[in-house]
Amino acid sequence: MTAAAITTPTGGLEPPRDCPLCPRLVEFRTINRAAFPDRHNAPVPAFGSLDARYLFIGLAPGLRGANWSGRPFTGDYAGDLLYATLKTFGLAQGDYGARPDDGFTLLNARVTNAVRCVPPENKPLPAEFKACRPFLLAEMAAMPNLRGLFAIGRNAHDAVLSLLDLRKSAHPFAHGAVHALPEGQVLVDSYHCSRYNTNTGRLTEAMFHQAVKTLLAAA
Ligand code: URA
Repeated sequence: MTAAAITTPTGGLEPPRDCPLCPRLVEFRTINRAAFPDRHNAPVPAFGSLDARYLFIGLAPGLRGANWSGRPFTGDYAGDLLYATLKTFGLAQGDYGARPDDGFTLLNARVTNAVRCVPPENKPLPAEFKACRPFLLAEMAAMPNLRGLFAIGRNAHDAVLSLLDLRKSAHPFAHGAVHALPEGQVLVDSYHCSRYNTNTGRLTEAMFHQAVKTLLAAA
């Protein structure tokens, strides 16, 4: 698959600032722009090079995290564990400062979201996953060295299966599971590194590290 083979509804690899595809998200964006005019309040583009070997896929920007900062997971509670972990495994360098101008950079890794706009209550609708799918597909096609996908949570796992037309029954979500994908790539699953999951103990730092280690070993 080549980048040229995939076109998105709005033409570019990333949705435009005023992407019109999801009426509910457009309405939410309008409200947030009025309330917080100096914040990003737009689709959040991926972070990291298209030349990367690993693509980490989250759900959607958090209202006062990525949606404010304009960089995935940046300023979101989940970003603290994600970016510390990437640094531990040599996939990032610099000090993560929860701001897009913190000088923190990714090494051989890219971080993106299944849905690029912040959804109300952190819950995109099925139609919104579907509308945003071409952007993730185009992104994957534009990554010539891509070997490993890392699903940060079940929603990201499901988004990858949908866009590759794979059946959930053949690829059940499980923390640490490795799924062989067409074209030799692998998908590794993790519970989402959200505050809820870490506070309840569903996901520990050790479990998250183990899942990333699995990715590095498998891809
Ligand atoms: N921030 C993101 O950018 N994505 C998530 O999935 C959670 C927080």
